[in-house]
Amino acid sequence: MSATGHVYTERDVEDFFDETLHTYLSFWDGDGVLHTGYFAGDTDDDYRAAAERTSEILAADAGIDGSSHVLDVGCGCGNFLFHLAGRFGCRGEGLDLSAERVAFARQALDARDGLDLAFRQGSVTRMPYEAGTFSHVVSQDALCLVPDKPASHTEIHRVLRPGGIFAFSDFLQPREEIGERARRHVYDRVRWNGGYSFVGYQAALERAGFEILLARNLESHIRQTYRVLGRTAAERAEATTDTAARDWMLAFSESCAEIQVAIDDGEFGWGMFVARKPHTATP
Ligand SMILES: C[S@@+](CC[C@H](N)C(=O)[O-])C[C@H]1O[C@@H](n2cnc3c(N)ncnc32)[C@H](O)[C@@H]1O
Repeated sequence: MSATGHVYTERDVEDFFDETLHTYLSFWDGDGVLHTGYFAGDTDDDYRAAAERTSEILAADAGIDGSSHVLDVGCGCGNFLFHLAGRFGCRGEGLDLSAERVAFARQALDARDGLDLAFRQGSVTRMPYEAGTFSHVVSQDALCLVPDKPASHTEIHRVLRPGGIFAFSDFLQPREEIGERARRHVYDRVRWNGGYSFVGYQAALERAGFEILLARNLESHIRQTYRVLGRTAAERAEATTDTAARDWMLAFSESCAEIQVAIDDGEFGWGMFVARKPHTATP
């Protein structure tokens, strides 16, 4: 069900992430990182370090090591897998709806030596992998965008081995009713139909057959992410001569202020979850 009155399809989401790649690269992160940061505190304004910390925490929570075979769903430009493969030497696959982002990830992979990684274009709701292929499925701020969320959970459960770990961060919709401003600046802005509350997410994972190992409710970090990025976008807008890019960044910066209000009003949130496919499950 849409929180917003709109129903965005996978095609809408794909088009949005294809079309905005270069705009996001120009002010959010030049390597294509596009997820919420885990900040050291209210005065920490180093987005890139915070985004890296999110990856470190998820990797530690998931128990990834050199023997892991990891799938990143909604991998975007591939940065989480570069982090994991560089640090642990694990194998990995990245899957993303956006052909533009997958092409960026492949180019970035070509520029690095010795990583056992591959990237494919496709949807988490119809994955091209055999049942029981992966020891870990990870994801950062992507699954909220899937219109048919139960289908994505069923697919993730299918491609994991029994005992395999699903560790991810995602946007939350803490309450059912969403006001017009939050709808415009938070939900419609990224073609998001709406998602689960912190508790509702865990129930949905259990319905798909997972055991919940860990859940973190982290709204202060998403507030700080948009505070920092809003300021960066306003500064970059002043510096660019491209008027279309300037307008987009100024609109984004305005949305960042509204996003912080939406978080305070319980209309938007962020969490991390670690779940396990039971050891007794069939492969
Ligand atoms: C906010 S970006 C996060 C990208 C990346 N995880 C990161 O941390 O930089 C969300 C990503 O999810 C992808 N996505 C959305 N729906 C998807 C789906 N059904 N299957 C695969 N990828 C999807 C989008 O194309 C986009 O690249």
